[in-house]
Amino acid sequence: MFCKRLINCPSLQLLKTSFVYRPQAIPPINLFRKMSTVGKPIECKAAISYKPKAPLVIDTITVDPPKAHEVRIKIVNTAICHTDAYTLSGNDSEGMFPCILGHEGSGIVESVGPDVTTVKVGDHVIPLYTAECGVCKFCKSGKTNLCGSVRATQGKGVMPDGTVRFHNSKGEALYHFMGCSTFSEYTVVADVSVVAIDPTAPLESVCLLGCGVTTGYGAAIKTADVQKGDTVAVFGAGTVGLSVVQGAQSREASKIIVVDINDNKETVSRQFGATDFVNPTKLPEGQTIVDKLIEMTDGGLEFTFDCTGNVQVMRNALEACHKGWGQSIIIGVADAGKEISTRPFQLVTGRVWKGSAFGGIKGRSEMGGLIKDYQNKKLKVDEFITARRTFDEINEGFEDLHNGTCLRTVLKF
Ligand SMILES: NC(=O)c1ccc[n+]([C@@H]2O[C@H](COP(=O)([O-])OP(=O)(O)OC[C@H]3O[C@@H](n4cnc5c(N)ncnc54)[C@H](O)[C@@H]3O)[C@@H](O)[C@H]2O)c1
Ligand SMILES: [Zn+2]
Ligand SMILES: [Zn+2]
Repeated sequence: MFCKRLINCPSLQLLKTSFVYRPQAIPPINLFRKMSTVGKPIECKAAISYKPKAPLVIDTITVDPPKAHEVRIKIVNTAICHTDAYTLSGNDSEGMFPCILGHEGSGIVESVGPDVTTVKVGDHVIPLYTAECGVCKFCKSGKTNLCGSVRATQGKGVMPDGTVRFHNSKGEALYHFMGCSTFSEYTVVADVSVVAIDPTAPLESVCLLGCGVTTGYGAAIKTADVQKGDTVAVFGAGTVGLSVVQGAQSREASKIIVVDINDNKETVSRQFGATDFVNPTKLPEGQTIVDKLIEMTDGGLEFTFDCTGNVQVMRNALEACHKGWGQSIIIGVADAGKEISTRPFQLVTGRVWKGSAFGGIKGRSEMGGLIKDYQNKKLKVDEFITARRTFDEINEGFEDLHNGTCLRTVLKF
């Protein structure tokens, strides 16, 4: 069915008949205007995920020009997030293959389709997997950062008009991913899914604001709205968890306990503001992590955060909350089919279980503030970059995720 759609795809017809610009070749200056990429397909490098559990294939793909309300971006940097690895693992029931993964990126607008008014050619931008249209029921509610405008098509790996902008060298269609697909030198996103940023902010660093750092920091300062003196426990000291830690520290939480099964995370947790570190696998026999946290905080925490995606951890995080008012925020993404459970009495007695996507941050209206926090050294971002690689080393970048000390590997085109 997909192939049939491809044969009839207008962008493929365009591809067959039009000149294809190869950005690798430098044109003589007098030809430059004629050879502008605007309105034409671009051939460029991308990492294609053909199937779960298989290495990404670096190949030349064709990226069609943006249609109405779409923006084509030259990606400069992209990092690898655990959600990319999760989809690649095959455990994501929404994962569509073949696709172009990647959702933590930064770049420069190459061209815009008709009716785009919010960004222009040359703008430095961050693609947003959580769109913000400003006019849908969700956006207008003032209660959530979830936006309904592109949700249905984004989840199916296509642009809002139901077609794709990516084709491999055989002309086969490639799905989009999370509305971003940053593992391509050029990508096309909906105009509601991109934000222009201060051009003086280094693209290599701020790509991390496209997911992990924003997610954790926002979960602390927005979703939970941690206040001065609150006690906080963060399960999982990856980029997301450590960003919760820095959010809690910025709000002057009185205790910030990091819980992680990897002892190597203690030093980095303290550098980010943790006051305590507990390895739940090293507790005395008979003591659970819930007992331990309740003991350390005289009855439980004001806020706990799951940044692991493990449903048993989610339960522990809830049950370590203080009776009457403690809140537990789920950030981690659990494997397909996994469910959470607890005794209802935990909620009856006042604990609150909630979740947070992209830290509750509205990408288009609030990203500027996060960039300022970073520029004013209020928000750590550079500290998360534990490796830098060229884009060609993307598979090695995925391997970095398993080395136990990796926070983020940033790739450069
Ligand atoms: N909700 C969102 O919007 C959103 C956005 C980005 C990422 N995520 C999810 O957040 C989670 C964290 O992402 P990350 O990039 O920081 O991951 P990461 O793998 O870098 O960090 C996870 C940490 O959890 C620790 N850990 C694993 N099992 C544990 C356990 N049982 N108890 C305590 N610690 C444990 C690991 O040692 C590691 O330090 C992932 O599930 C990711 O998919 C969610
Ligand atoms: Zn992510
Ligand atoms: Zn909206």
